[in-house]
Amino acid sequence: MKNRNTIEEYYEYRDKIGNRTELYRIVAKRYGVTSALYPGSHIDIAPSLVIPKVIYVDNFKGAVNFFKDMEMIKKYITENKEYEKPCDIVFMGQDYTGELDVKPVDLIISQYAGFVGQATKKYLNTGGILLCNDSHGDATLSRFDDDFEFLGVMGKNNRIMDTKLDDYFVLPRSKNVDLVKVKEKMKGPKYKLTAENYLFRKIK
Ligand SMILES: C[S@@+](CC[C@H](N)C(=O)[O-])C[C@H]1O[C@@H](n2cnc3c(N)ncnc32)[C@H](O)[C@@H]1O
Repeated sequence: MKNRNTIEEYYEYRDKIGNRTELYRIVAKRYGVTSALYPGSHIDIAPSLVIPKVIYVDNFKGAVNFFKDMEMIKKYITENKEYEKPCDIVFMGQDYTGELDVKPVDLIISQYAGFVGQATKKYLNTGGILLCNDSHGDATLSRFDDDFEFLGVMGKNNRIMDTKLDDYFVLPRSKNVDLVKVKEKMKGPKYKLTAENYLFRKIK
């Protein structure tokens, strides 16, 4: 028996990570996203407020327990969502690096959860969008991955900026980025110019 309300738990978590609804709203609107995959989501259900179909994947016990209360989650999303369609929310309590039984989506969300883009890009439609940060180096790996085109960045104000992109992913003294080290350390390098989030389009 849960001793606290599932939505209260979400609100507590949201207070900790910051409300990302605006971030997801802007990306969904700009790229016409109607379906998303969120590997390593923990309990960040904000995407479902602005995207009709979202598949959450996380193997952490706390996340598995949270999503057991799907009825409450769907009720909350239904009462607060910003689209007309009914919400379609799926949770998979598994390792996202394993095979996932999902159809290709319009958007993959990667936030502080490892190399999500690399592990799950096969579930992204060609032309689909990867929204990621570089906390663990996922944006770096995407930037140097021929399957992706670097589209833009988003700062704290959640505005999409798509100019001067060559200024990003540049190391001091123009040193080369060592992808082997990024993979080993699971940490984004200290670039001259950085952003909160990065946007890529899958082009192959
Ligand atoms: C630091 S939390 C970030 C959660 C959420 N994305 C956010 O930004 O608030 C990382 C989450 O990714 C999950 N995670 C990391 N590696 C995973 C994997 N290989 N398979 C499934 N979940 C994973 C962890 O269980 C954890 O819940």
